[in-house]
Amino acid sequence: IEVDEFDLVVFGASGDLAQRKLLPALYHRDADGQMPGSGRIICSARRDYSDDDYRAFAKSALQEHVKDLDDVHLQQFLDRIRYVKIDIATGDGFEGLKEVLDEQPDVIRAFYLAVGPDLFGTICENLGRIGVVNDHARVVMEKPIGKDGASAKALNDTVGAVFHEDQIFRIDHYLGKETVQNLMALRFANALFEPLWNAAHIDHVQITVAESLGTGGRAGYYDTAGALRDMVQNHILQLLCLVAMEPPESMNADSVRDEKLKVLKALAPINEQNSDKLTVRGQYRAGASAGGAVPGYLEELGNDQSRTETFVALKAEIANWRWAGVPFYLRTGKRLARRVSEIVVQFRPIPHSIFDVEAGRITANRLIIRLQPDEGVQMQVMIKDPGPGGMRLRQVPLDMSFAEAFKVRNPDAYERLIMDVIRGNQTLFMRRDEVDAAWAWIDPIQAAWANSKETPKGYTAGTWGPSAAIALVERDGRTWAEED
Ligand code: BG6
Repeated sequence: IEVDEFDLVVFGASGDLAQRKLLPALYHRDADGQMPGSGRIICSARRDYSDDDYRAFAKSALQEHVKDLDDVHLQQFLDRIRYVKIDIATGDGFEGLKEVLDEQPDVIRAFYLAVGPDLFGTICENLGRIGVVNDHARVVMEKPIGKDGASAKALNDTVGAVFHEDQIFRIDHYLGKETVQNLMALRFANALFEPLWNAAHIDHVQITVAESLGTGGRAGYYDTAGALRDMVQNHILQLLCLVAMEPPESMNADSVRDEKLKVLKALAPINEQNSDKLTVRGQYRAGASAGGAVPGYLEELGNDQSRTETFVALKAEIANWRWAGVPFYLRTGKRLARRVSEIVVQFRPIPHSIFDVEAGRITANRLIIRLQPDEGVQMQVMIKDPGPGGMRLRQVPLDMSFAEAFKVRNPDAYERLIMDVIRGNQTLFMRRDEVDAAWAWIDPIQAAWANSKETPKGYTAGTWGPSAAIALVERDGRTWAEED
């Protein structure tokens, strides 16, 4: 379905995010027929480009990042692009943007801030100054939204001085992933799971977001963040919220976000008193990954003093009626054994077995929601081994692989999210109070680490992280699903 007429302004249009994610996502939405004829993409950066120069730049980015690029759709897409040179720091060029926007004053205006957060405030002030923030305007913010509660507040205040909360779209691209949305479908479009979705039937939950890559070209930013701020504060806590929230009244943005907020507020605090027991930090050392030898984090960074964690494992608990006593083990890191993101819901064992010992061990049911790669949902159940050999039991996966079930291209998270911005649908975007609540849980962990004499534990690149992370769950008589 076509969205309404719009102008989408991209600040930071020569940057990495624009090239790798935004332009390809917009191209696909256009090629799939979702953009109205007058929809424009107004790209802005500091470079001295003409419209055609930028189109050539966009074309080569698309050639690099889009498979099966089609010439007709490519030309149609490039024709939508305009370029405006803006120097954000000096404010030069904003008037030129106003002239272009004034050509279609009544359409939706979305301003995408694909730049570092230090520029968010200046951009918003300038947009306010030139008078382009009307009732149809919205702004899209990328993470990091602050580095703690106080800086997030300052950032949200600055943007909030120009845009209302219902015009602010804080992207967490994990919420746009197909399987993440499927989690809501699974829970709330089936009668099967919800009656069992609580402490009486669920033993624990694991959320793993493992990456095989290192910090890439982003070591500078990453070293000021670390895995807790970079991944847990946003993506992993959002996943945890979707697993743990109460059924919202509807898919309406505030209904969903109200329920997620309650989960964040119910997280049991981790602080100086208990962080030694509930958290593990790691930092990768030289090792082997993706088939080759790789240097350690400190060598890559060129600073042997850094205590920034590239891995974190946490044992979280949601202190409410549904979840009391159910650990949520969270884990993420760079340069791990494999790239895999998944949510594992481990059910409790059956209360009593009617089978004799020859039947074999009965393994408790487990639901695995695989975010990437090989997106899909798997339920592990016990069955009888086929054949006349008596009652022997075996665990098999009931599998739903998305690639096999639906032979369609799996759209990137940004495709869905950018179109939601144009449609004005905030369901998959973080509300300000969610960001605050997430920081309120993260800040004391960060403070406990800062005051601790311990440093992150080394782990060899290409492994599953420090052995202490394995001990964190084994102490409770459990194991990480990936290492079973
Ligand atoms: C980003 C983090 O938000 O998510 C990166 O800043 C991380 O460090 C990335 O690599 C992971 O996203 P995805 O979609 O590749 O799992």
